[in-house]
Amino acid sequence: MLRNFCFLMSVLLPLFGGSVLANGDIAAGKSKSVTCSACHGQDGNGVESLPMQPRLAGQHAEYTAKQLRDYQSKARENAIMAPMIAALSEEDINDISAYYASLKGTIGSSSAELLETGETLYRAGNAETGLAACMACHGPSGRGNPAAKYPALSGQWAEYTKIQLMAFKSETRSNDLSAVMRDVATKMSKEEIEAVSNYIQGLH
Ligand code: HEC
Ligand code: HEC
Repeated sequence: MLRNFCFLMSVLLPLFGGSVLANGDIAAGKSKSVTCSACHGQDGNGVESLPMQPRLAGQHAEYTAKQLRDYQSKARENAIMAPMIAALSEEDINDISAYYASLKGTIGSSSAELLETGETLYRAGNAETGLAACMACHGPSGRGNPAAKYPALSGQWAEYTKIQLMAFKSETRSNDLSAVMRDVATKMSKEEIEAVSNYIQGLH
């Protein structure tokens, strides 16, 4: 009996291990995120006049928690975010990430300029430069894939997306496992980055 129990746990534990992250307390996360709302908005959708500050609403908890840990360990470096999260415990990170995942993300709109280029890049990549379609990982409507830790992108401020793609391209952001996004961004021209960022702002 005990042997069977041990066997069962050894099979089940790895399965549960992955979802513990998502088990934060939403109500606790709300009260712990009061300081964050100054920049990330009362509803987690950012502040229109400051589009370099990302929307967090609706983002997968696993992805948000990874970013907060990466800021703490300096795997992702940012002078504004570093002091904001220095004192957060692992429990705080899980609670805050669950809270933002529970909020509804709003969608912006794309300007007409370069819209077609952006859509083609997102949906089909660029065969000439070997650029993969963003859709393959981030999904047809930009919702990402929580199990694979591919973040949601839909509706994100174009300015923030552009800054991140430029940072992956210059490798000032290098917290992507297996350099998956650095590979993508180094294949992109500045114009392609602008086009796809504009498309994503209205994607849903
Ligand atoms: C003074 C403004 C400010 C405050 C306050 C602030 N942030 Fe940020 N946050 C930013 C900026 C700017 C970025 C983009 C940084 C970068 O480019 O890496 C960011 C990025 C993030 C990201 C990365 C999002 C993504 O899509 O990868 C997360 C998660 C985040 N902040 C969570 C928080 C939390 C949680 C708090 C409160 C504990 C907080 N922030 C407080 C300005 C702020
Ligand atoms: C092979 C899978 C894959 C492909 C293809 C891909 N991405 Fe990503 N992307 C990822 C992963 C994984 C991350 C999370 C990296 C991390 O953990 O910080 C990411 C992160 C991002 C981020 C940062 C999000 C944030 O909130 O900070 C942006 C922006 C992004 N991708 C845009 C794109 C665009 C645009 C394309 C197409 C030109 C693309 N991606 C293609 C896997 C992919």
